[in-house]
Amino acid sequence: MCGIVGAVAQRNIVPVLIEGLRRLEYRGYDSCGVAVLAGGELHRARSVSRVAELDAQVRETHLEGVSGISHTRWATHGAPVTDNAHPIFSCNELALVHNGIIENYEPLREMLRGKGYEFVSQTDTEVIAHLIHSLYRGDLITAVRNAVGELHGAYAIAVLHTAHRNTVVGARQGSPLVVGLGEHENFLASDALALAGSTERLVFLEEGDVCELTLASVRIVDRHGAPIERETREVAAYGGAVELGPYRHFMQKEIFEQPRTIGDTIPATDSFDATLFGEAAPTAFSEIDSLLIVACGTSYYSGLTAKYWLESIAKIPTQVEIASEYRYRDSVPNANQLVVAISQSGETADTLAALKHAQALGHKHTLSVCNVSTSAMVRLTVLSFLTHAGREIGVASTKAFTTQLVALFVLAVTLGKVRGHVTASQEADYLRQLRHLPAALNSVLALEPQIIAWSEEFARKDSALFLGRGLHYPIALEGALKLKEISYIHAEAYAAGELKHGPLALVTQTMAAVTIAPNDALLEKLKSNIQEVRARGGQLYVFADADTKIVNDEGLHVIRMPEHYGLLSPILHVVPLQLLAYHTACARGTDVDKPRNLAKSVTVE
Ligand code: F6R
Repeated sequence: MCGIVGAVAQRNIVPVLIEGLRRLEYRGYDSCGVAVLAGGELHRARSVSRVAELDAQVRETHLEGVSGISHTRWATHGAPVTDNAHPIFSCNELALVHNGIIENYEPLREMLRGKGYEFVSQTDTEVIAHLIHSLYRGDLITAVRNAVGELHGAYAIAVLHTAHRNTVVGARQGSPLVVGLGEHENFLASDALALAGSTERLVFLEEGDVCELTLASVRIVDRHGAPIERETREVAAYGGAVELGPYRHFMQKEIFEQPRTIGDTIPATDSFDATLFGEAAPTAFSEIDSLLIVACGTSYYSGLTAKYWLESIAKIPTQVEIASEYRYRDSVPNANQLVVAISQSGETADTLAALKHAQALGHKHTLSVCNVSTSAMVRLTVLSFLTHAGREIGVASTKAFTTQLVALFVLAVTLGKVRGHVTASQEADYLRQLRHLPAALNSVLALEPQIIAWSEEFARKDSALFLGRGLHYPIALEGALKLKEISYIHAEAYAAGELKHGPLALVTQTMAAVTIAPNDALLEKLKSNIQEVRARGGQLYVFADADTKIVNDEGLHVIRMPEHYGLLSPILHVVPLQLLAYHTACARGTDVDKPRNLAKSVTVE
């Protein structure tokens, strides 16, 4: 998704602007650009290729300057062509980069056309550039502040003006923006990661903040122009590039990191205490009567899995909602409900908006399960639990998902204890099972060669069904999502009991049905569902627990999971599905880490 970097310094900042974009590349983009102020004029380079091509362009044209802004664009308004790539200029006097979406760009465009402004792009961004230009009266920060006051929608912007040497002005509302403090140089970025190597002293801007960076100072004002102080944080964790090591793709590396990331996420304590979720958690947990989980995509599926744990272990009613649906529907607020936002990035626009919506409805108990400690989501919720997946580069989420599951299992056991449904010996048993996960995962990862053999057949398929029951239905959903995302094979997941209510009509001899078959209470029911598919000639690919007695047969391909894992089984059973999607995508030659049309952190609606 879009990325912003800005800098003012006494040195040529183009390498900083390009390196920042490189660090944001993994988030997905389709064009990029950089603009600098040099000799009192704006200069820019833009590319509809990769950041490496932009870098080659700036070297060839000797683009240099001491203040500048750069951008990676993920197209929303207008195709990914050079004219739509940022930075966008207004009258060759102002340059602007923008993340987010402006909802009222059409009336603003008409108003600005009436004032004589010409539009050369199809972007909503050009409206902001001309609007600031039209309001400029010699004071850039005031012009920006007045302009953003007229915008509806989400934005993070960075602006250069020819009359303001060594100045970058930024503003945010609904999209993240962080200021980096250096020695006689200052930086701006949409993600702290972009500033790694430049500074570790960061100021996270809040909604409505407008900032002005010069060599010697950073000034932050609110939407009325009143100065505000924001805390400076030292964030060292962003240093260092992530290396691919012996792996072909980051996704493969991240799948194989899971024994470690899961181990890192399991609390090191000997028992589960509410304070694992924050100082205020003991009181909050004793007051709540139900849970509302909001999330998107893969994180939503971790929420769906958690519902089974929360209701069976903690006996607490749990509702799981797609964040983009919840935020726009009429719901019945309950002040005693704990709202749980699940997110890898902590910046997903829909999840953030759902959380704010819940807060506006009067929900006071909020918890984020998140992988980024400095994210907007963690800052917004009263309680938080950090997953320790490390930076996830592959667009398709893998290790973030399994660490979320660990976090949510810990939540279920902790709430179970608070509510008197988990005894000390059950707690010890759950902890023992959690601690066994890294070793169990290593033996699941050893199934890779068998999965590669399947993936060669899968690569020729047009469509696949994913079947699961109970706890493993959300895992079937996640397996189908992974296959779609990176191999572009159409896949749909069903609770296996639903087959006969419609999807069975799709089953022919060419249909692959991936089935998750743990040895749980629903096994016999699932075996009947398997027979329903076989009887119609469908090809079954079953991941069966060691003790299920499901064996290879005609139309029935079985990979045996090394053990039976009880309640934690979803965390193990999702891993072969990740590997199947990964190797199928490799066999089809897709861009695994950067699948088409997708972005890592979805900061627009
Ligand atoms: C799929 C995937 C997405 C994300 C979703 C939410 O592999 O990664 O579906 O899970 O965009 O992102 P976060 O978790 O950052 O809120």
